[in-house]
Amino acid sequence: MVDLSPIQNFLGCATPQAWLDIAPQHLDILLIDHAHCEKKAASTAMNLLFRYVDRPELLKKLSQLTREEMLHFEQVVEFMEKFGVTYDHLSPARYANGLRQHIRTHEPERLIDTLIIGAFIEARSCERFAALAPVLEQNPETAELAKYYVFLLKSESRHFEDYLALAELYSESDISDRVAFFREAERRLIESEDAEFRFHSGVPAAGYSL
Ligand SMILES: [Fe+2]
Ligand SMILES: [Fe+2]
Repeated sequence: MVDLSPIQNFLGCATPQAWLDIAPQHLDILLIDHAHCEKKAASTAMNLLFRYVDRPELLKKLSQLTREEMLHFEQVVEFMEKFGVTYDHLSPARYANGLRQHIRTHEPERLIDTLIIGAFIEARSCERFAALAPVLEQNPETAELAKYYVFLLKSESRHFEDYLALAELYSESDISDRVAFFREAERRLIESEDAEFRFHSGVPAAGYSL
């Protein structure tokens, strides 16, 4: 079993119960958005591989991460087929852009912020998989998906560690202030009302849309 305490300590809050309560009712959106997130995680890491060719540690860690995210993508698509969910386009959650809008535009700060955001997205995904697993376990139809989410904890928690270690490695100064800044921005996105339900959405607003 993966020790989630470093991730829980890193994040500014846990997934709100209100989000967990409605998630199983929207399995189709959850799976489509999850597939999208895996693909997006690979493509973000791939962009960094192109932009920072002079950073050997980054190249090593993120090429492995890219491969793993694409494997997860394949596995989630298989679950979608199993559940009869049609893969369609879906507007992305406000979450990633809500974090990325704070990225500083000069280097190396741009790289450091991007890596810190990567750590938060991986940490949140991991925390959410762990929170969803016991909920999905209760229904025999989704028990296999719950098992898969537990399986994902190992790689997603390593992705969190890798992003954070890279941010520390490449920063010329202590990153704790910047981590604290993004912790607060991330917490607000998770704890405030959100008009849409997505894998990384906030608290479902009254009359939220799908
Ligand atoms: Fe993944
Ligand atoms: Fe990941």
